[in-house]
Amino acid sequence: MDVAIVGAGYVGTTTGVVLAEAGHDVTLVEVDADRRDALAEGEVPFHEPGLDDALADVLGGRLTVAGKVEPADVALVCVGTPPREDGSADLSQLKAAADDLAAAVPSWDRRPTVAVKSTVPPGTTRRVVRPRLGEHADLAVNPEFLREGSALADARDPDRIVVGTFDDAAEQPMRDLYADRDCPKVFTTPETAELVKYASNALLATKISFANEIALIAEQLGVDVDDVVEAVGMDHRLNAAFLGAGLGFGGSCFPKDVQALRHVARELDVEPRMLDAVLSTNDAQPLWAVRQARTLLDGLDGRRVAVLGLAFKPGTSDVRGSRAVPIVRALADGGATVVGHDPMAGQAFAEHVDAEVTLAGTVEEALDGADACILQTAWPAYAAIDPATFVDRMRRPVVLDGRRALDGASLIEAGVTYRGLGNGTQGERS
Ligand code: UDX
Repeated sequence: MDVAIVGAGYVGTTTGVVLAEAGHDVTLVEVDADRRDALAEGEVPFHEPGLDDALADVLGGRLTVAGKVEPADVALVCVGTPPREDGSADLSQLKAAADDLAAAVPSWDRRPTVAVKSTVPPGTTRRVVRPRLGEHADLAVNPEFLREGSALADARDPDRIVVGTFDDAAEQPMRDLYADRDCPKVFTTPETAELVKYASNALLATKISFANEIALIAEQLGVDVDDVVEAVGMDHRLNAAFLGAGLGFGGSCFPKDVQALRHVARELDVEPRMLDAVLSTNDAQPLWAVRQARTLLDGLDGRRVAVLGLAFKPGTSDVRGSRAVPIVRALADGGATVVGHDPMAGQAFAEHVDAEVTLAGTVEEALDGADACILQTAWPAYAAIDPATFVDRMRRPVVLDGRRALDGASLIEAGVTYRGLGNGTQGERS
């Protein structure tokens, strides 16, 4: 099939590459000239493991890059829906993409199926896209569930494919598009498909906030939350995935989508008590590290604190929603000097985050003379730091492991004052 991907961000680029691998002829349509030029040269303008090589394999063959949408059997709209000030989704890119398609499609030699992959509030495809395009195209909603850092694997091997359609016309083209995917395919209404995406992300975020609250309780009880979660996950009705306690969830999806769903609920006169709790727990969670530092250092004023990890999770240079932001701000507000380090996201943090932080080029530089070190992102390189490095470099070897990524017992043995979030035994599994 001829497939047009409108919007070459994480979702669009990854989806385009994977559909080209599957044998479709894909055009990646991107309005941003710099991004377009980079992609046409085979450079992925963001960090995503394996995507450069996968793009190189299909570029110039089954995949091309363009500035304007060309005739296609299926067009997948993959533009961003960032949060507005009030938490609602900003649909301006979606409207622009639908207007562009509406202007182009009438002159095509075929009637396409246009599927909305962007995450949109339930009812958006009906209210916003259908009036613009419904006359010229068959419409579908086809949410995407890929994660940054494992986007390729998620897109190649999805758990399920969800497609919402207004009528039968769009169903067969969407079946053909994903014919080679061996997973359950759910065909349903547009609003159901739209809500499946929000509900999935909201439930994953709920699991994390739940685990984070249990972690704080566990810590006070002197038990290890990881042991608790492991045993909880053995119940076949539950599972331990996304019950990893830490400093909270970030990224471009969970915070934005839970806020957007909360906004939708309020508009529908439903009080979103659960979603409120998920977000307020997530707002409070990063402050664990700040509280620990304040207590162990007897105040923050004049202290030097190293923050290891600025990306919202390992494997990405993305700092959107990163829990490093509230941590750095709270430390600076308390009078501390903050030195940040990240193997990949330092530059993005400096460019996009308004926070008082000095960036260190190496872990050693970040630790030099520090009174405390907060591990914020579980990059594998941090787990490999020799315990002696903390003792030798820091003024006071206080290590606050916000992601439970370090070996607490060996750090304690080396002379570090170690605190692991949700670990009441302070690193010792006795
Ligand atoms: C998420 C969804 O997983 C994906 O299905 C959706 O399409 C987009 O949003 P992503 O934001 O890329 O993907 O990252 P994910 O791996 O889900 O992590 C999100 C945040 O939750 C990160 O900050 C991560 O550190 C945190 N997290 C995740 C935890 O704190 N504990 C966990 O157990 C899992």
